[in-house]
Amino acid sequence: MSEIKDLGIETKCLHAGYSPKNGEPRMIPIIQSTTFKYDSSEKMGELFDLKASGYFYSRLQNPTCDMVAAKIAALEGGTCAMLTGSGQAATFMAIFNIANAGDHVVASSTIYGGSFNLFNVTMRKMGIDFTFVDPDCSDEELEAAFKPNTKAVFGETIANPALIVFDIERFANAAHKHGVPLIVDNTFATPVNCNPFKFGCDIVTHSTTKYMDGHDATLGGVIVDSGKFDWMAHASKFPGLCTPDESYHGVTYATQFGKEGAYITKATVQLMRDFGCVQSPINAYMLNLGLESLPLRMARHVENATKIAKFLEGNDKVSWVNYPGLEGNKYYERAKKYMPNGTCGVISFGVKGGRAAAEKFMANLKLGMIATHVADARTCCLHPASSTHRQMNDEELVAAGVSPDLIRLSVGIENADDLLNDVSNALKNI
Ligand SMILES: Cc1ncc(COP(=O)(O)O)c(C=O)c1O
Repeated sequence: MSEIKDLGIETKCLHAGYSPKNGEPRMIPIIQSTTFKYDSSEKMGELFDLKASGYFYSRLQNPTCDMVAAKIAALEGGTCAMLTGSGQAATFMAIFNIANAGDHVVASSTIYGGSFNLFNVTMRKMGIDFTFVDPDCSDEELEAAFKPNTKAVFGETIANPALIVFDIERFANAAHKHGVPLIVDNTFATPVNCNPFKFGCDIVTHSTTKYMDGHDATLGGVIVDSGKFDWMAHASKFPGLCTPDESYHGVTYATQFGKEGAYITKATVQLMRDFGCVQSPINAYMLNLGLESLPLRMARHVENATKIAKFLEGNDKVSWVNYPGLEGNKYYERAKKYMPNGTCGVISFGVKGGRAAAEKFMANLKLGMIATHVADARTCCLHPASSTHRQMNDEELVAAGVSPDLIRLSVGIENADDLLNDVSNALKNI
């Protein structure tokens, strides 16, 4: 058989990360153990010194989690990966692994609200400064956002909920010009539809809670390293990777593990050791089940969402539709470049009649469930003005980029006609 890296994504989703030997279980084993036993202190000492690889405590590493992380690394075309307990933990650690108090990060202004709060409030309290830039800003504006202490650039492949497609190549070039990596949250596109590493991105994060799991079953996150960023070439910017870590036996990650392994090794043995926001082995097992069918599900999400977006576009109760897979959408051409097989299943649209009409639409839905969640096998729907953003008046909503009539529809993999009927009836009865 060819090497796994040369196989198609459908094959990788099933086979990467674990290949059982003679007589071993076909499914990845759930190693639900906090602890691993050794015959001598000397043998265990080699693990602590990072001279041998193995397991000693599941807060740092667990075999089940590592198998699933290795699968996701293969899907993204990276060198290694680390699972985390949530997408939020992945976003935080991806940045905190290379930025300390006194450092600065350039981030796209249209990112998931939870990431925005994490950066703008919590990480600022930790002394890390952020400059938010419009993802479609001019070259001059982007250039002006960098400071001598900038350590990373961050964006989202398809922004949640604005559905803006991030120009990965442009932001990667800008980041590299300043000697820092580009980190991209690839949650909405998944590696099935977009490979940020092909366009110069250095590190990818995911909320695996979304399409990767896909079944409302497990919360989780992952960080994947492309293994391409040369930390040592910018050693003065990244002392955490390029000088000895006194908290871990004086190891210099970039020297001992090279470009391919330094970043994830540090995140694992230093940050995961100290923060402990691990994914449990049983959750990793369930995530793996989700990953096995990810390519089939993504294709159906795109197919169904395209049908619904086209239907909405032609409906006289609808005032506007935003779906980057729709011809005529502002981001259609950019989406074709980065995601030639389709974007995702999330659409946003507005109904004539504003907030009250949108509330009626929501109440009329039978199949689409009202949930704050997105990117699930089942269709879910959210009207921010009457739920997540209900404390805001119409003016405040507009300022926050969420119009009072905005409905976010995360199209699932149900029968397309059933979904069309549901949406059509809900609109008729407004
Ligand atoms: C794009 C994106 N990134 C990160 C997160 C955070 O992930 P989690 O909820 O798994 O912590 C979310 C959650 O909705 C998200 O949509």
